[in-house]
Amino acid sequence: MKYLVTGGAGFIGTNFVKYILQTHGRQAQICVLDALTYAGNLSSLHDELQSELISFVHADIGDREAVDRILLEFKPDYVVNFAAESHVDRSIDDPGIFLRTNILGTQNLMDCCRKAWQNPDGSYMPGKRFLQVSTDEVYGSLLRDIPDGRRFDIPHPLCDAAGGRSESTAYGNDFFTEDSPLQPRSPYSASKASADMLVLAYIHTYGFPALITRCSNNYGPYQFPEKLIPLIINNVLQNKPLPVYGDGRNVRDWLYVDDHCAAIDTVLRRGRLGEVYNIGGFNEKQNIDIVGMIIDEVARLCNENDRYRALLAEPDRLPDRSLITFVKDRPGHDARYAIDPVKTATELGWAPRIPFAEGLPRTVRWYLDQRKWVTDIVDGDYQMYYHKMYSGR
Ligand code: NAD
Ligand code: TYD
Repeated sequence: MKYLVTGGAGFIGTNFVKYILQTHGRQAQICVLDALTYAGNLSSLHDELQSELISFVHADIGDREAVDRILLEFKPDYVVNFAAESHVDRSIDDPGIFLRTNILGTQNLMDCCRKAWQNPDGSYMPGKRFLQVSTDEVYGSLLRDIPDGRRFDIPHPLCDAAGGRSESTAYGNDFFTEDSPLQPRSPYSASKASADMLVLAYIHTYGFPALITRCSNNYGPYQFPEKLIPLIINNVLQNKPLPVYGDGRNVRDWLYVDDHCAAIDTVLRRGRLGEVYNIGGFNEKQNIDIVGMIIDEVARLCNENDRYRALLAEPDRLPDRSLITFVKDRPGHDARYAIDPVKTATELGWAPRIPFAEGLPRTVRWYLDQRKWVTDIVDGDYQMYYHKMYSGR
């Protein structure tokens, strides 16, 4: 199978490339297309790029000529569109690029695929599939603090651990299903919802062979340290204040990135064309609890291992909760996201495998072990970004 992975030098794209190579070996060939914005980092794929199974093209998904050429030369079976501007705070600061990349870029990719894949009679070459990687944020926000959650009706160990229920029952009894209305509330989520609607329109109007996945918050290796989990790990090591927006009680459903990659590959291979599939982790957490868990994990590792302790800006002092700093809330901050992934689980047999209690420590350890990956990023324009977003907040 040949995969064209757009945005493959970003967080999830990088993990997806590694996942496909590990899972399918020589059965898979991959072409990564990436514009290498501030969020793209080709060094994350340094080892993979040595293989003849993987190639890289530096291009923008909005560049028709470049995309046409790749489709003609590489002839992918699958196009997986990860390429996007992905950070809500940046979208609030400057929405324009989100509309250009996330909406018009997706439209351009689909137009190029139609041209490459459509037969004169309007049918498409067999086996061609376009997967739009979307987000639970397109559904808007749920209320939080509603007790008495409902059961997820699937047998699954992560669910069983909570007595057959999602852990999320602590925070509410409503969930996003694939039929929930699209009610985006940030420029980022509005741009992703617009792209989803365009994909659905192309499916309906042109019979375009596409699918959409909508996933909850991912965490794991190679995530850019502007997002909550890697930002907090980095600040803990540097003994810097840990900025928690508002009261810290906003809820997100967190999924280990490999579980998302497995879900995408499953939907690509077995999903029904034209369908939307929700992907989630049965794992809702309040931000303040995540921050606390990270502090505890860094402290534990540094206490046990002098090599890790030496990474601390103040090695004599283990980090503690006094670093937590409540800061001005994000404008329009969505209160709670919670995904119902039962359709994907029951129809396609996918389920998350990595519990948070395993995935979070694994992620913290990765960021400690790969300090250079982070310092290469935070030593550059990141300082300017951090100053703009957090100083005086
Ligand atoms: P990311 O910001 O880490 O990576 C985005 C990648 O896209 C970068 O490599 C960047 O260089 C590239 N890119 C940006 N604009 C481009 C353009 N015009 N042309 C080509 N490449 C371009 O994002 P991520 O967290 O890996 O997210 C990937 C996708 O998954 C996004 O579509 C996002 O909306 C979606 N998603 C993310 C999450 C999450 O928690 N991170 C959850 C659900 C869905
Ligand atoms: P983020 O990682 O930006 O993902 P998203 O906004 O797409 O869910 O943020 C996750 C949650 O953490 C969100 O509720 C905002 C909050 N947050 C903070 O409290 N402080 C921070 O410095 C950041 C980046 C996020």
